Amino acid sequence: PEAITVQELANRMAERSVDVIKLLMQQGQMAKINDILDADTAELIATELGHTVKRVSEADVEEGLFDDVRDDKAEDMTPRPPVVTIMGHVDHGKTSLLDAIREANVVSGEAGGITQHIGAYQVEKNGQKITFLDTPGHEAFTAMRARGAQATDIAILVVAADDGVMPQTIESIKHAKAAGVPIIVAINKIDKHEADPNRVRTELLQHEVFVESMGGEVLDVEVSAKTHQGLDKLLETILLQAEVLELKANVDGRAEGLVIEAKLDRGRGAVATVLVQRGTLHVGDIVVAGTEWARVRALINDKGEQVKSALPSSPVEVLGFSGVPNAGDRFSVVETEARAREVTEYRQRAIREKTAGGGATSLEQMMNQLK
Ligand code: GTP
Ligand code: MG
Repeated sequence: PEAITVQELANRMAERSVDVIKLLMQQGQMAKINDILDADTAELIATELGHTVKRVSEADVEEGLFDDVRDDKAEDMTPRPPVVTIMGHVDHGKTSLLDAIREANVVSGEAGGITQHIGAYQVEKNGQKITFLDTPGHEAFTAMRARGAQATDIAILVVAADDGVMPQTIESIKHAKAAGVPIIVAINKIDKHEADPNRVRTELLQHEVFVESMGGEVLDVEVSAKTHQGLDKLLETILLQAEVLELKANVDGRAEGLVIEAKLDRGRGAVATVLVQRGTLHVGDIVVAGTEWARVRALINDKGEQVKSALPSSPVEVLGFSGVPNAGDRFSVVETEARAREVTEYRQRAIREKTAGGGATSLEQMMNQLK
C-alpha cells in the first residue's frame, strides 16, 4: 500500500528531496519527486538518513480526542438546552416556522432587530433556552449519523393541516425513529379554511406516531407560521419534552461538538458554525475538526456578538480555521498546536491515500510518522 511521496518524506525529515532520490538510487530504485514510496522503503530511507521512525496507527492518532461520556461524574453534569431540528414534507412550512420562531424572539430594538443566519439559533422561553438548527432534520441526521454523531435531541415534524401526511412526512418519521429522537408534531397552517388537524392526527396513526389525543404519548401542537398562533405553546412543549429527556452536559473541560456549517468567507477566511456538546469552548483554544484545525481567533454568537466562550448546546461561529471543515465533522479541543497538526495531517494523508486508490485500506492503514 502507498505510504508517502518522496517530497513529503523529504519535507518531514527536513532533508532535500534530491538526497532522498540519490539514496533511493543507491538502493536500486529510480524515483521522481512525486512518486509514492511504500512504508518499508520510506522507513529504510529515513533510517539511513539518521531519523528514527515511529509508525502510528489511526487509533494512536485519534486516542483521547473525544472523552467518553461515561467518564462524566453525575455531580459535574448541569442541565443544557435542547437542540431541535425541523423536518417535514416540501412546502409544509419548515422554513416559515423557523423564521417565525426566530422573529418572534428578536427583542425589538435589539441590534437593529437583526439576527445572524449562522445555521442555528437560540431562543429563550420562560428563562430557558432552546437551540434550533437550520439544517433540515433529515440532512442533519444522515450526515452526522454517518460520522457516528448526533446533533439533535428533539425533531419537530411539521405537517400542513390542509395537506396531511405526505411522502416526506413519512421519510422524516423514519429518520427520527432510526435516530431514536423523540418527535413533536407541529400541525401547521392552522389559519387556513381547509385546515383539518384531526385528519393529520388520524393519518399519523398509520405510521405509528400516536399523539396524546389518540391515546399515545407524542406531543402535538397546532400552529400557524403565518399568524404566529401556537408558537408559544410549541416552545413550551419543546421545554416539556426536554425536561422528560433530562438533557445534561459537563460544562467543565475541553469542548467537543459538531460542525453545523462551514464556508470560506471573503475577509474572514474559513468560518465554521459549531454546536458545542460538551465542555466550554474558549477564544484561544486549539480546535481540531475533521482535516482542519484552528486556534480560535474569535467566537461569534447567533446575534452577531463576539463572545469569549460558548457553553453546551450553543451554536457559535468559530474564526481561525486553517481550511474549511465539513458539516457533520466532530470537533474537539486539543492541548497543543503540534497535536492539532499531527491529527489533521494524519487525516489528510489518510484521505489522500484513499482517493489515490490502489486498494489502500484508508484509515486503518499504517502510517509513517518521522520524528
Ligand atoms: P421546502 O423548504 O421547499 O421544503 O418548504 P418549507 O417546508 O420550508 O415551506 P415554506 O416555509 O417555504 O412554506 C411553503 C409555503 O407555505 C409558503 O408559501 C409559505 O408562505 C406557506 N406557509 C407556511 N406556513 C404557513 C402557515 O402557517 N399558514 C399559511 N397560510 N401559509 C403558510
Ligand atoms: Mg424550506
